[in-house]
Amino acid sequence: MTALSHNVMVAVIGAGAMGAGIAQVAAQAGHRVQLYDSRPGAAAQAIAAIDQHLGKRVANGKLAASARAECLARLRPAAQLDELADAGLVIEAIVEKLEVKRELLGQLESLCRSDCILASNTSSISITQLAAGLAHPQRLVGMHFFNPAPVMALVEVVSGLATASQIAECIKDTALAWGKQPVLARSTPGFIVNRVARPFYAESLRLLQEQVSDCASLDALLREAGGFAMGAFELTDLIGHDVNYAVTCSVFDAYYQDRRFTPSLVQKALVDAGYLGRKSGRGFYDYHQHALRPQPLSLESQAVPDTLFVEGEPGLLAPLLERLASAGLVLSHRPGNGLLRIGQATLALSDGRLASQRARDEGLSNLVLLDLALDYASARRLGISWAADTSPAAIDQVVALLNAAGIALTALRDSPALCVLRTVVCLANEGADALLHGVASAADIDLAMCAGVNYPCGPLAWADALGIGYTVQVLSNLQAAYGEERYRPSLHLRRLLAEGACFHE
Ligand code: NAI
Repeated sequence: MTALSHNVMVAVIGAGAMGAGIAQVAAQAGHRVQLYDSRPGAAAQAIAAIDQHLGKRVANGKLAASARAECLARLRPAAQLDELADAGLVIEAIVEKLEVKRELLGQLESLCRSDCILASNTSSISITQLAAGLAHPQRLVGMHFFNPAPVMALVEVVSGLATASQIAECIKDTALAWGKQPVLARSTPGFIVNRVARPFYAESLRLLQEQVSDCASLDALLREAGGFAMGAFELTDLIGHDVNYAVTCSVFDAYYQDRRFTPSLVQKALVDAGYLGRKSGRGFYDYHQHALRPQPLSLESQAVPDTLFVEGEPGLLAPLLERLASAGLVLSHRPGNGLLRIGQATLALSDGRLASQRARDEGLSNLVLLDLALDYASARRLGISWAADTSPAAIDQVVALLNAAGIALTALRDSPALCVLRTVVCLANEGADALLHGVASAADIDLAMCAGVNYPCGPLAWADALGIGYTVQVLSNLQAAYGEERYRPSLHLRRLLAEGACFHE
């Protein structure tokens, strides 16, 4: 089955933020669209807002005036539900309540043509559960857009137990024809994005709770070393803590309270206090007028860096060494097992053990550990932590070295896998579990995280780049350090490791 033809009339139910956006997308793609909302006047109001929005795009030279007029001509408010009887696709984007959605779908089933596809934009309700009780459950599919729908590329096409595969394929092709990036997912809690993204928030929240660093510094690390568009605290302030916390709780409950998804007490406190983020003027940060935005803390050194001795193969740190050499620092190579030595300090990429633990295990003194960067050649900041017996002079040498290459440094309290590294391996671990459970393909999981939440790299491709062996080692060390199920490496990762394979061959 191919994409729905342009002649097919599309109906959108619910004229809130999502419904209005979806109606605009369908109309811009060339469909006649009827928009219905149970609140009288809401559909017409939403169409007027779309007109205004498109008007601004015309004024900015981003849209032709004719395209605006054509789009508007295709959009029509419906006063009654039965005006939608001719639709070939109905997308519901009404309130997120199972019973209300079920009742609507039942009405639609008796009203619409037998070949009409019914789609739900739900972000958290099971498509299987929504379809139960319908006479033709095979024609119900999830079509999960992201907010704002006209801007965000991703659409998760979600199949419940009964959804016909041709229907899912048709909606996938239709989303593609609408200029979107569709991915196929099986209906499981959180689908792809809302499940795989949980550790992005959870690990930063945990680091804050454990006083590893402050919000501004942890956010800066995820941005300036991790390459993420926003850190977890600024992002959850934007999303709203009520919304983000509710999604975490719903995923946690839906997975029978799997401890891996345990919600954060730090975030609950914000919700309890009414500190919901930007919309309430206060979340992790203060958004009131004239409020000062805290800056990330950075270590600085005035020392002249010594020669850096590179012992053996530097592995993932090779681009960093090239950068240091280009910055004019003196590097000297000698045999060894991948450690870097400068002055009294020993420098290494974290393997997930505490610095003090690793120093003791390997008999290293003055150990300083580096956090992961998406790209060491361009990272503006890196996280470091050190063992309890590391001297201030040793730390100063490391800081001088990295500062000399233009890298800001954030000191983290000794914590397993620091910040970016633990976030990335936990994202990859969750992606691996989603793959293990047949929720989606590896390609679609990575695409979903890049197109849906703007990750700089799909978590599975990132694990491939780090090496499956290293990813499993870091997770195992995290698990050993915390003694928690939360970090247990997915069987899929262990299987890849045993097979000598990776996610994307
Ligand atoms: P909203 O509250 O802005 O809009 C919902 C609209 O549906 C309201 O205008 C309401 O009057 C109307 N409505 C409620 N019950 C109705 C019924 N029985 N029949 C007809 N209209 C009815 O909600 P929003 O944010 O647009 O969300 C809608 C759906 O999209 C929900 O299922 C939500 O989970 C999902 N979603 C929301 C996202 C978001 O970021 N807001 C992102 C992706 C999905």
